Amino acid sequence: MASSEDASPKYWLEYSNLQRTKHELIRNYLNGWFPKLGYWSGRVVYLDTHAGRGRHLRGELGSPLVALTTLLEHSHRDRLLERSEAVFSFIERDEDNLAELQREIAQVGDLPPNVKIETIGDECFQALDELLRSLREEGNQLAPAFIFVDPYGFKVPGRILRELMEFPRVELFVNVIWRELDMAISQGHKAGMAAALDFIFDGPEWRERITSEDFDVRADEAIDLLREKIGARWATYIRMLGDNGATRYILLHLTNHDDGRDLMKDCMWKVCPDGGFYVRKWDDPSQQFLITPEPDLAPLEAWVIDKLSKGPRRWQELIADVRPEIWRVPHLNAVIRDMRKKGRIAADQFQGKVVPSRNPRLTLVAAAPNT
Ligand SMILES: C[S@@+](CC[C@H](N)C(=O)[O-])C[C@H]1O[C@@H](n2cnc3c(N)ncnc32)[C@H](O)[C@@H]1O
Repeated sequence: MASSEDASPKYWLEYSNLQRTKHELIRNYLNGWFPKLGYWSGRVVYLDTHAGRGRHLRGELGSPLVALTTLLEHSHRDRLLERSEAVFSFIERDEDNLAELQREIAQVGDLPPNVKIETIGDECFQALDELLRSLREEGNQLAPAFIFVDPYGFKVPGRILRELMEFPRVELFVNVIWRELDMAISQGHKAGMAAALDFIFDGPEWRERITSEDFDVRADEAIDLLREKIGARWATYIRMLGDNGATRYILLHLTNHDDGRDLMKDCMWKVCPDGGFYVRKWDDPSQQFLITPEPDLAPLEAWVIDKLSKGPRRWQELIADVRPEIWRVPHLNAVIRDMRKKGRIAADQFQGKVVPSRNPRLTLVAAAPNT
């Protein structure tokens, strides 16, 4: 049952770079995700566990409306909706926020027949637990779903995320409130805090696994443990910095699918083209220099040299190998083409264009000795 419980009503007064980036990532990702699944799956679900009011007080759209309008304005919309229904499920426990959200949805007007919206006034983890139980009891699968978990606090139950992730086409996008979570880890010796961390990390392993002295390395350790415990093949994340330049939130995408990993990497590069995946809280002109429009590909060239120094490799093998790295496939292709032009790489194709789809064997050519 919904009640008035918004712990941070000031959230809706501002529209920070953090909020904008979160929404841009959702919009860009769903733009690729809807057609990837909608053509064959029969149903796709967007589930917002902490849906909010639907609109900030300054007028910007909140995540439910960002997701909904992404589909409604999609260039493939009608063809997608001929083949699949799209279900938007919004959970919000604060009754004023829920009423505002419902008002915003009503203002969108008539929806295409295959678009369904449900709003749920409930505590989201309780609602998810019930959903999981009823799916299990009835032996049903969850349709392909993009689940956005956007709490104010850090106490997100790892078990529920793991159980959701067990369905074959579920992807999670979680706002990890890192500064507070890190503080909790530093107090892990206290019994109450240890129990909360067991709940978040779905077990006791955090004690041995999150140990670095370095704040950012600790964040990497925590993300890696979450990925492992939730059972995702890929974790792709962007650090959102607070005013003091330290990581405040981490937007974490979890998927078991290579195409999901590639798509989220593309989206993260789009919102943060320097590739470090650091985003500052406020748009500050003095920080513009940090974000260069062209990424520095020298480290990727060094990566290619390292790979090929162990022997020739097929182009597609390098594409598969670059997936765990931060670089996108187009970056890799550009580096390979450039190295070939400079004579650093030979390809076993002497006619026509050397392109990744023909999968040539690439060999490192020894650099000429300095004369
Ligand atoms: C950070 S805001 C959500 C912002 C929204 N996702 C967006 O991007 O527009 C968090 C929202 O979750 C609600 N909330 C907090 N805890 C909740 C819970 N356990 N279950 C459901 N809603 C919750 C709050 O009332 C608030 O509206």
